[in-house]
Amino acid sequence: MIPSGGQVTRVSGQVTRVSGPLVEVRGLTGLAMSDIVEVGAYRLPGEVVAISGDRATVQAYEYTGGLAPGDPAAGRGEPLSARLGPHLLGGVFDGLLRPLDGAGPWLDPARSADAAGASAGEASPGPGFGFTPQASDGDVLAAGASLGTVANAGGVGYRVLVPPGISGVVGGLRPAGQVAADEVIATVGGRPVRLTSSWPVRRPRPYAERLDGGAPLQTGQRVVDVLFPVTRGGTSAVPGGFGTGKTVLLQQITKWSDADVIVYVGCGERGNELADMLTELADLSDPRTGGKLAQRTVVIANTSNMPMMAREASIYSGAAVAEFFRDMGLHVVVVADSTSRWAEALREFSSRNGEMPAEEGYPAGLASALAAFYERAGRVIAGGGWEGSITIIGAVSPAGGDMTEPVTAYTQRFVRCLWTLDRDLAYARHYPAISWAGSFCRDAAVVGNWHARNGDPGWTDRRATLSGLLAEADRVGELAELMGVTALPPRQRMAILAGRLAREGILQQSAVSATDAYCDPARAGALVDLVLAVGDRCLELARRGVSAALIEDQDFSPVLRAKEDAGTPEQVRALAAGMLARLDALAAADPPEMSPGE
Ligand SMILES: Nc1ncnc2c1ncn2[C@@H]1O[C@H](COP(=O)(O)OP(=O)(O)OP(=O)(O)O)[C@@H](O)[C@H]1O
Ligand SMILES: [Mg+2]
Repeated sequence: MIPSGGQVTRVSGQVTRVSGPLVEVRGLTGLAMSDIVEVGAYRLPGEVVAISGDRATVQAYEYTGGLAPGDPAAGRGEPLSARLGPHLLGGVFDGLLRPLDGAGPWLDPARSADAAGASAGEASPGPGFGFTPQASDGDVLAAGASLGTVANAGGVGYRVLVPPGISGVVGGLRPAGQVAADEVIATVGGRPVRLTSSWPVRRPRPYAERLDGGAPLQTGQRVVDVLFPVTRGGTSAVPGGFGTGKTVLLQQITKWSDADVIVYVGCGERGNELADMLTELADLSDPRTGGKLAQRTVVIANTSNMPMMAREASIYSGAAVAEFFRDMGLHVVVVADSTSRWAEALREFSSRNGEMPAEEGYPAGLASALAAFYERAGRVIAGGGWEGSITIIGAVSPAGGDMTEPVTAYTQRFVRCLWTLDRDLAYARHYPAISWAGSFCRDAAVVGNWHARNGDPGWTDRRATLSGLLAEADRVGELAELMGVTALPPRQRMAILAGRLAREGILQQSAVSATDAYCDPARAGALVDLVLAVGDRCLELARRGVSAALIEDQDFSPVLRAKEDAGTPEQVRALAAGMLARLDALAAADPPEMSPGE
């Protein structure tokens, strides 16, 4: 018989049929759609996908080998829920948010059962956390208000909140000291509140008010921050063919963006890449908190070597974790690599369940599932009255680079930013391979206003000038391919030159460079100004009659290498002054009346 759980009611039944991950059970009363049912001796969890009388069909989240008719089944009495608490920070979890350390429970079903029990909210000893109360007994608190803080939870401002649906008078509030994750720290309205709480992951957590506009998320990646910025609370998708740099870009954002908490959902991608990232994160220190970057990161791993079934849930688990931290007044980034693999899991489910397939075999609900995922991003006033945000960034892997396939096409409709990775740029080793012609940002005006209010009124003009320059260089570049550069008038030759400086000096950014893997906004602005100033000066020289060939022959490597050589905006500006002086000397040495022909 299955042991009874700590806080949930279990009703027992029997497995009657197993077909791959689909398990039919009988004898469970009171089941509801989407409830979690545990099947077999190892209590493999699964989700109710159909009910008829006392028969229910359960979609198991794990490999069902060995499961047979007659095995026990028990309802957990709740839909798929995540155990949310301070233990999440710095942790690695599977798609159902069960801790994954070492070999992981997948290899050891007995351990998996323990973990499943823990995720259902049973008391587990766990490490202690330093709790400091912020309220007092007798206070009347509403849902979302703070009872106290937890120190050293990843170096972020971790608040213990009154969970949604609970409010009233505070009683028995614990004094400052070490508290275990599942210990009761107070009662509110007579209901116990612990450091950890459970939440059904598919349901968005409530908030007081949704806000629009907002600060940009500084990702440290120039092409993003300068040309296609994403706001805190915004959404972005990264479509790109095989090997174009999706994973590297998302990992760069995980490492460097100025968020409080990062939720990295590795969804159906290679496990070794994720393992490498974890090792790197463990070594990198966070310039903002002084701690390790890993401590403010929650990794949800459902890589390609893990069962497909939990992959569908992993995206929702990630969103629930993000909302949990958002409600504390933190800025959270959810990175999902890759939403296409998630959509494939949806497709597999629906076909097994006998749903009518729509486009390319995806279920008819694909668009609404994608919309609902991106909808969980946003900047809000949380129940406690403070502001928090969730930014969602999802990779999309269109098969064969076909951008019209359903996942890519729908995603483009729901996101505020699109960072399209270009195969030709990636082949040319121009990384990040974000295409300036094929990407968009719907929040540029909002970000421009924010910069104007925050000491950088030139941001909007700089972006417009740079975009214009890149577009002009592309256009003229096509002509040059037909006619040869030397056949072009000097003005167009200068456009090609400036385009090259912008591409190599600004947009290219190596993820493995010690100086340049991260670029702060001030240095990014200075680098753009450097390229624009040099481009302008070249054009001016050409206008004054200096030969285009002579200008092109100049050594522009200081401009191209500035991103590596100049670590501060001041150094970039000093470099700019030197370069401009050299160009001016050119005008003096090659006076217009002596220049040949042009
Ligand atoms: N910013 C960057 N700096 C340096 N190298 C990069 C950068 N981005 C990508 N690369 C190179 O491109 C390779 C492929 O990148 P990545 O694995 O991110 O592609 P992907 O789009 O995720 O591929 P897949 O479709 O297989 O998941 C990396 O191994 C790396 O060598
Ligand atoms: Mg990848």
